[in-house]
Amino acid sequence: MITGETVSLRPFERRHLAETRAWANDAELMLLLDRARPVSEVEHEKWFATLDEKKSSLYFAIEVNADGQHIGNIWLWDLDWRHRKAELRIVIGNSKQHNRGAGTEAISLLCYYAFHRLNLHKIYAYVLAVNPRARRSFEKAGFSLEGTLREDRWVEESYTDVFLLGKLR
Ligand SMILES: CC(C)(COP(=O)(O)OP(=O)(O)OC[C@H]1O[C@@H](n2cnc3c(N)ncnc32)[C@H](O)[C@@H]1OP(=O)(O)O)[C@@H](O)C(=O)NCCC(=O)NCCS
Repeated sequence: MITGETVSLRPFERRHLAETRAWANDAELMLLLDRARPVSEVEHEKWFATLDEKKSSLYFAIEVNADGQHIGNIWLWDLDWRHRKAELRIVIGNSKQHNRGAGTEAISLLCYYAFHRLNLHKIYAYVLAVNPRARRSFEKAGFSLEGTLREDRWVEESYTDVFLLGKLR
């Protein structure tokens, strides 16, 4: 467990599954996470069954310290052990929990873990230009803009830019 002031990152377990699937199928979150396909229960179970074996990703549930509420998930993706870098992805699923600092704290906690426990050198994230809250949250956690991928994604019937943000150890 990785413990912060208001939230902690816990190993992703079966009890986190139902909420995670609901978030994966939430229209607003699908847009911000650039997901197009809904996730069926069977597919979700299969994904969970192989989670432990995956060497290129690492999943955590985000829980509130005060009451243990599961408010989101955060994960390292495309872990590259040769170049010692990984992509960071995050979802705070309950919109009532947005803009309260939890996302920034979770990103900072996972970066600390990635740099000082996994000995990674670089963490990066792709953020849609239509998601200024996510960009601000990553920047508050110490990420800088590395580049703009122009008209990189097809979102809601138009092409949108994507910001590549990165943080070095
Ligand atoms: C993006 C996300 C992780 C951020 O976490 P969060 O807990 O909501 O964010 P925080 O409260 O830590 O920080 C949000 C910041 O963005 C600011 N913000 C909110 N809406 C904004 C907007 N429309 N434009 C600019 N800044 C905005 C907030 O004011 C805050 O900055 P401040 O502390 O300087 O006032 C979370 O909102 C989330 O999971 N959203 C849905 C899924 C998603 O977008 N995932 C990321 C994909 S890259």
